[in-house]
Amino acid sequence: MLVLGIDTSCDDTAVGLLEAPRRLLANEVATQYDLHAAFGGVVPEIASRAHAERVTRVLERALAQAGRRLEDLDAVAVTHRPGLLGSLMVGVSAGRALALARGLPLVGVHHIEAHCVAAMAEHPDLDFPFVALIASGGHTALYACRDVRRIERLATTIDDAAGECFDKVAVLLGLGQPGGPAVSRLAEGGDPRAVAFPRARVKEDPLAFSYSGLKTAVLYHLKGPGGGRGAPNRAGAARPADVAASFEQAAVDGLVERALEAARREGVADLVVGGGVAANRRLRHDLLAAAPAGLRVRFPSVALCADNGGMVALRGAQLLAAGERAPLDLEVYATGE
Ligand code: KG4
Ligand code: ZN
Repeated sequence: MLVLGIDTSCDDTAVGLLEAPRRLLANEVATQYDLHAAFGGVVPEIASRAHAERVTRVLERALAQAGRRLEDLDAVAVTHRPGLLGSLMVGVSAGRALALARGLPLVGVHHIEAHCVAAMAEHPDLDFPFVALIASGGHTALYACRDVRRIERLATTIDDAAGECFDKVAVLLGLGQPGGPAVSRLAEGGDPRAVAFPRARVKEDPLAFSYSGLKTAVLYHLKGPGGGRGAPNRAGAARPADVAASFEQAAVDGLVERALEAARREGVADLVVGGGVAANRRLRHDLLAAAPAGLRVRFPSVALCADNGGMVALRGAQLLAAGERAPLDLEVYATGE
């Protein structure tokens, strides 16, 4: 069964093709970093317009990459929540139109659930139950993936997402976007113990994340307590590479500690990592080093960590196999719940 997966939930136009249950044939993405760079964040109107301009071309590219034609499709999966409404609507409209035109089953996919199962495309032995850590520009959360129908959120961030924090620290360090890879590259030449940045804790919930305090601590360290984002760096500030490395270590420590605690509580044998921040090398290294015997840590390749259509096709295939079908007037929702 050939399943098409479409994701236009934020600023990436993504189309994937999957031979069910797990064989990925194509994964095409058109990013929009260049379009939003000048605005310091994703502009919803610009994002949805760009999706509308690009989605059919990205679909054509995915078909070409897989060596298949539209006529070969057996089902259509599309992200319908959570995300920017105008952006989601473009992908969902495309998916609905295709399903109608070709008489194919349609299924709506939850974007974060797709991140949770993405690693299954590359780890044939990975199966439910497992715990997933999803860390991206918009989300930082832990999920108990009990079976196909039961993916439950265990904890989330009470303020910023981890990736958002990397992006904001990149701005403070005068680096370009996306900030995660830029900060990480700079950190490679730095000392992670140079600056003692705080490891935030949420009193009521040891699994909950918090990243706004860390961002502010970096700001104060670089600019002094009264300094704004545009102020020059203060004389006593550590070298930028040391600041980057110390920040990265603090950000990663928070993810590693909670992910391992969640896996311990759930008693699972597999811990899966997803979302753009899963590409981070220190996170990969530290999580593998700290995992207890008996816990397998699964990282998808970088292309499957970031937003992509392949993970949507995979999740769609799971839901279709479980009997799920969406009506042709499938709706979009901004929220995950
Ligand atoms: O999942 P994603 O592609 O898009 C969403 O946010 O949904 O994640 C992008 C985020 C950005 O905040 C980016 O800075 C971060 O993931 N990121 C990284 C790395 N690569 C991407 N953060 C830390 N280290 C990296 N190597
Ligand atoms: Zn995402």
